[in-house]
Amino acid sequence: MKLWAGRFSKEADKKTNDFNSSISFDSRMYREDIEGSIAHAEMIGECGIIEKSEAQAIIKGLEDILADIDSGKLTIDPDAEDIHTFIEGELTKRLGQTGKRLHTARSRNDQVAVDIRLYLKKQIKEVTAQVKELVTVLCKKAEQYSDTVMPGYTHLQRAQPITFGHHLMAYAEMLLRDIDRLEGAYRHTDAMPLGSGALATTTYPIDRTVTAKLLGFSDICQNSLDGVSDRDFCMELASVLSIIMVHLSRFSEEIIMWCSWEFKFVELDDAFSTGSSIMPQKKNPDIAELVRGKSGRVFGDLMTLLTVMKGIALAYNKDMQEDKEAIFDAVDTVKMCLTAFTPMIDTMKVLPENMRRAAANGFINATDCADYLVKKGLPFRDAYKATGTLVALCIEKKTTLEELPIEEYKKICETFDEGVYDAISLENCVNGRRVLGGPAGENVRAQAKRVLSLIEN
Ligand code: ARG
Repeated sequence: MKLWAGRFSKEADKKTNDFNSSISFDSRMYREDIEGSIAHAEMIGECGIIEKSEAQAIIKGLEDILADIDSGKLTIDPDAEDIHTFIEGELTKRLGQTGKRLHTARSRNDQVAVDIRLYLKKQIKEVTAQVKELVTVLCKKAEQYSDTVMPGYTHLQRAQPITFGHHLMAYAEMLLRDIDRLEGAYRHTDAMPLGSGALATTTYPIDRTVTAKLLGFSDICQNSLDGVSDRDFCMELASVLSIIMVHLSRFSEEIIMWCSWEFKFVELDDAFSTGSSIMPQKKNPDIAELVRGKSGRVFGDLMTLLTVMKGIALAYNKDMQEDKEAIFDAVDTVKMCLTAFTPMIDTMKVLPENMRRAAANGFINATDCADYLVKKGLPFRDAYKATGTLVALCIEKKTTLEELPIEEYKKICETFDEGVYDAISLENCVNGRRVLGGPAGENVRAQAKRVLSLIEN
């Protein structure tokens, strides 16, 4: 029987009931729904809205229901309209009249809002811990490969030499900002809507500070219309999760490239790669590809939330039931991706010789060659031009700047002497870039240390 049976003269159409129902996806909030109800019962008991003894009985009844769902003794009815209706119905089945008093001074509108917030607060903490784990892995790997020279790219063209540790620490910085953004999303989720009622609070003398305290909220929604119809925290979280997916997807793209025979900078552990059903030589970076692909789902979830919310008049409208599948999917997807991605990075084999070889073949030290002339007094534009001519000559002679004899250098610019070879050695190119933010080994080690200490607290 429906909650509104008194007002209606017909049962709901079965297919329409399925359409209207949210139990298939909101049942995952059963714990939060019960926690919210326990706090509400305690508060209305304390405020003298129901008898204290009845509040006690309701709390005990709810605790039993929670234990029974947890143990599998009680299964959630898939035909119930939503988790709130199911729990309240079960309570009434068990307690009779007393169970019916729980919904005094409350609406499903503030109830669902508090449930989602309680649920997401836990999820944000879990995602944050997972991101921190990935950052830790990156810092450790960066320390290990702080002196490993690799080509740095712009336009996917070899540009200047960097270190592998420096490259990894770039992702650590992105993820560090993601952690900060998750904390911001948490702050906006941490406000309690309970007591907003259906939209305009209640005439019962409730005390919202009691429920906020019992449920561990640091803030209380200050306007009841906003309290029941605010889903900013879902949109904000989905935005943060989308940015995280952009970062993971970009990183995945690089891993995929680095695994190719054209690069071969890294090799993924067998446990995090797949083979081909037909080509025996293949080892595919499926995990990275899936992470890259799954970013699309999360962006889609964000778009769903934005679109659902943008046109609804205050306060609650049933459209908002669409919030849950989107935000749950975004959270689930990011958690799943991180679960596979972090150990994939942790176990991947780095191939420094191949990185070095790639760095040695692309005139990646041309800037340093020009800088060498500048340090000897030439204006940068002249030095740039002379070096450009040298590079063209090397290409013509199928050689490198390292191997080109000094006489050839001198023919193009008198200022060159033997010192140039030292200036363009890859190690010197990298270690010379010691300014804050640079790729030199000592910088990378300092960056890794700094980031590790930041995420420790
Ligand atoms: N299942 C609903 C939701 O997820 C709960 C709130 C129902 N409120 C209502 N007035 N129909 O949004």
